[in-house]
Amino acid sequence: MRAPAKLNLHLSVGPRRPDGFHELTTVFHAVGLFDELTARRAGALSLTVTGEGAADLPLDATNLAAQAVCALAERTGDDPAVALALHKGIPVAGGCAGGSADAAAALVACDALWGSGLSRDELAEVGAGLGSDVPFALHGGTALGTGRGERLTAVLGHGTYSWVLALAEGGLSTPAVYDELDRRREHGPVTVAGDPAGVLAALRAGDPALLGRALSNDLQAAAVALRPRLRALLASGDDLGALGAVVSGSGPTVAFLARDETHAVALAAALAGHDVCRSVRRADGPVPGARVVRTR
Ligand code: C5P
Repeated sequence: MRAPAKLNLHLSVGPRRPDGFHELTTVFHAVGLFDELTARRAGALSLTVTGEGAADLPLDATNLAAQAVCALAERTGDDPAVALALHKGIPVAGGCAGGSADAAAALVACDALWGSGLSRDELAEVGAGLGSDVPFALHGGTALGTGRGERLTAVLGHGTYSWVLALAEGGLSTPAVYDELDRRREHGPVTVAGDPAGVLAALRAGDPALLGRALSNDLQAAAVALRPRLRALLASGDDLGALGAVVSGSGPTVAFLARDETHAVALAAALAGHDVCRSVRRADGPVPGARVVRTR
């Protein structure tokens, strides 16, 4: 089982709703950085985690993958006694929806293991109860998200885009970044991402230069306020000839768009020397959503 990371090519955040979530308009884009999960029947529900940031994740019932198993078992009437082995490739608390990828992977894995035969839409319904980004981790590709991000429409586009992701030292809490955005809005006007027309037109045209210029994220200023060193990292994209740079979701991962694969290799090497980056990863998008890669 593997499930991809996501970037938000466009993210405009509306007001906070009575349920505590913000109304969003976003363009999700799944990229080739994956979490891998295996699931097998066992005496009890258990979880092991290895890889990127493994030590920072809970191994108990609060882990999103474990929550996904329980939510699906409740829906299907199956026994949630499953041994999960998770290998992280997606940074933890990085704004790339790693937790949602794990939940999506667990839903697809257990659906296959138990032969439940739920449709993708039914799995997405269960997933939406676990986190706003879980339906997209199942969907993959490029999609317009509305509501709190769980209502999806596929976006038609051309081409593959070469990204370089700069992983920062330490994560950012998503609620804290949303709170910071609200606080900034109370204290005066802030720039807003507006509507996603520019990003959608660039994707339709398959034009990376247009896409680079259209990238925007309302959470970016809030993430930079909480992690001021991101400002220099974002600015370095221009110096290095990136077509665009944007904070991914609530950050602190920054995504740089390269002209092509060769440029991405050079960009990744240059960014690796930047002192704000813990590490860099190259990833192409779009890629498919969570899917089974091997059954035994
Ligand atoms: O849905 P998810 O668990 O990813 O959301 C984590 C937190 O991010 C929420 O508790 C909320 O504080 C914030 N959030 C939000 N509006 C959204 C999505 C997330 O305020 N549309």
